[in-house]
Amino acid sequence: MAEGSARGRAAVVNTPADIAASPLGRYRSLVDDWDAFVASLCRPLPGCVWANPTRIGVDALAGLLAEQGVAAAPVPGLPGALAVPASFRAGQQWWYCVGLAHAQEVVSQIPALLMDLAPGQRVLDLCAAPGGKTAQMAFALGNRGTLIANDLSFMRIKSLQGNLDRLGVVNVTTTCSDGANWPSASGQFDRILVDAPCSSEGTLRRNVSLLQRLDHANSERLGPRQRALLRKAVQRCRPGGRILYSTCTFAPEENELVVADILAEHPGELRLIEVSIPGFLTQPGITAWGDKTLSPELALCHRFWPHHNDTGGFFIAVLEKSPACLVEPQPTQAVGSEIGNAEWLAGLDAKYGFAEGYWGQYRVNRQTRRGLHLMAADHAPPAAPKAEGSGLFFHRTNVRPPKPTTAGALLVGRDATRFRLELTETQRDAYMRRETFEPTPEQASAMPRGQIIVSYLGYVLGVAIFHRSGVIESQFPRRWSGCAAGPQAPATARDLPADALG
Ligand SMILES: C[S@@+](CC[C@H](N)C(=O)[O-])C[C@H]1O[C@@H](n2cnc3c(N)ncnc32)[C@H](O)[C@@H]1O
Repeated sequence: MAEGSARGRAAVVNTPADIAASPLGRYRSLVDDWDAFVASLCRPLPGCVWANPTRIGVDALAGLLAEQGVAAAPVPGLPGALAVPASFRAGQQWWYCVGLAHAQEVVSQIPALLMDLAPGQRVLDLCAAPGGKTAQMAFALGNRGTLIANDLSFMRIKSLQGNLDRLGVVNVTTTCSDGANWPSASGQFDRILVDAPCSSEGTLRRNVSLLQRLDHANSERLGPRQRALLRKAVQRCRPGGRILYSTCTFAPEENELVVADILAEHPGELRLIEVSIPGFLTQPGITAWGDKTLSPELALCHRFWPHHNDTGGFFIAVLEKSPACLVEPQPTQAVGSEIGNAEWLAGLDAKYGFAEGYWGQYRVNRQTRRGLHLMAADHAPPAAPKAEGSGLFFHRTNVRPPKPTTAGALLVGRDATRFRLELTETQRDAYMRRETFEPTPEQASAMPRGQIIVSYLGYVLGVAIFHRSGVIESQFPRRWSGCAAGPQAPATARDLPADALG
């Protein structure tokens, strides 16, 4: 490994010699330009952020970046996304922490585009954490209807839920189970994403030390699990529905060989479909590897090599289940406790002045003793498997006085007509650092004391307490505030979590 420099920060990168000596050498025959491939793996990966379509336009997001002196460029083929320098720490910016944007590497954004999503579809994300693709799909469905996000790892589901809360996603139920054993009682889905656990070779540009751990035996080891997940997706897909299988690895054992086996298990029931990916150069899936010859159909898969689009490595196969397969009856739906919530909502109306009928766009229920969750009105998760959570925890009712959560304030705060205070830039930074700060004389005279919703440039930041003593106390959550806060950000501010990039 060698040290390079990106905008003054030392960036650790691999060298061509490191790559040449690694197990990646076995892909020499697959790559059109080996030297360009190796050179790309020795450069840091450019960053990418997408604008949250429910909160900000991409031009306005570019404007916020420009104010910070960051040149952000549109990404061809990815509307709503902006390329940012590799060294830029998106996760430390105030606008990131309040859910105006999400950092996700370019190739990871492509699967959601190819799912052919439309509001009203029932969608399953079988290996969802940390949830970048889940969030994209949730918004492609209009933040309405039913999307189930599953992952085997409970810790990673928590991180996924944090991302969905920050972004204001209300049409997702999370589950924690082995996707290969996903229950039939969940019914059939119009679209299923299998973003499979893999050897992650394609992430080398942002995960430099991975090179030392590469071992092609990993690919052999992962194959059975990947087949089991894709097999289950085929079983749970409705006739005529679409399945997208993706990995961030180059290994044919985890890509074409997996897809070929599952196709062979479903003759006449499953086919690869042709999709175009404007803005990106891709290589067709391979049809031979080692002593194996595959069906020519496998060429309909897409390989993303890092040197073609200056991205990470990726693999995508889009499959369709035959319309002639058996349609199953609708599953039993989960029932939440939806009674007794009206008085809490009336309390919020009385305080913050929401419009009459405002809550009709949501389903409100109590999933924990701590308070209320908010879901899209038509969100209908199945009874099985057991949900970890549905929608967004938005109102804490076990404290006096009851208080909107930060995720709740970010979601509904812009519709509050009272107790909403616009902050200055300095106050914004203090708020994001969870500090207590002084209001200006004008703010102090205009705003009654008590719990308030604060915003900056009209973008809601969260909840604060305006004390009788005259100071404003930030209620921004500790676990969200490692991001944020401008020039005085604490030295311990954590970097953008690596798992925010998936
Ligand atoms: C490539 S990551 C998914 C990234 C995610 N789709 C995103 O865009 O943020 C693969 C995920 O599969 C999960 N996983 C591994 N084995 C699984 C299984 N048997 N069932 C469900 N999830 C599994 C891992 O915990 C990991 O979070």
